[in-house]
Amino acid sequence: MVVANWKLNPQTLGEARNLASQIELGLLPLDRSRVEVVICPPAVFLPVVAHAVHFVRLGAQNISAEQRGPFTGEISAAQVSEFRASYAILGHSERRALGEDDKFINRKLKAAVKGRLEPILCVGSGTKANFTAAAIKRVITRQIQEALVGVRPEKIELTLAYEPVWAISRGLGTGKAVSPAHAAEIISYIGLSVPSARVIYGGSVDGANAADFARQPSIQGALVGGASLNAQEFLKVSEAFSGT
Ligand code: PGA
Repeated sequence: MVVANWKLNPQTLGEARNLASQIELGLLPLDRSRVEVVICPPAVFLPVVAHAVHFVRLGAQNISAEQRGPFTGEISAAQVSEFRASYAILGHSERRALGEDDKFINRKLKAAVKGRLEPILCVGSGTKANFTAAAIKRVITRQIQEALVGVRPEKIELTLAYEPVWAISRGLGTGKAVSPAHAAEIISYIGLSVPSARVIYGGSVDGANAADFARQPSIQGALVGGASLNAQEFLKVSEAFSGT
């Protein structure tokens, strides 16, 4: 699975349409039975992206914990589903930084499941690259447990994304990814904790390093931010995970 997280980009409808079309076209030569490609645009661009793609799946970058009612500025799972969204990124560190805590993320995860969206739950610790693997495992274990309170993971479709906060780029893929060996170690650990979930890696994945991550058997995909704004780069990542 390769997920494009466009974040607060691009700025125009035309750019969103072009980027989505280029990605869709570029995927044609790949063995699409081996890789599921998902675009998570800003919610206002979901309709135009839904129109521009056919086999690319769609997701929301965030959804409300509520289903309806007096919640100014919120967008519900049911509303994004109207535009073919079938995934929702939840618990991203950029949203945790805005004040979303584990309890709130748990409510959103339940809202996603109720609205038939598959959660892509992001977990990842700290701001320092020198956290020990044991400390990272402690933090993500807590994040996973609290996000899943009252949920039986084996009963839902769930993707977990290991996103070390320090490895996430600050723009167009300018960050430094962790080593594939580190990602594989943490991802194997997550896989053992929640065996029914798919586990992917996110943090400065680009066309140049994707194959190294894809080569690790435990890493089942990538969540791509900056590099997903460039169709060629994103297609290289998709190609790496398609094994073609
Ligand atoms: P990045 O973002 O690829 O730009 O590091 C990944 C993410 O935040 O999901």
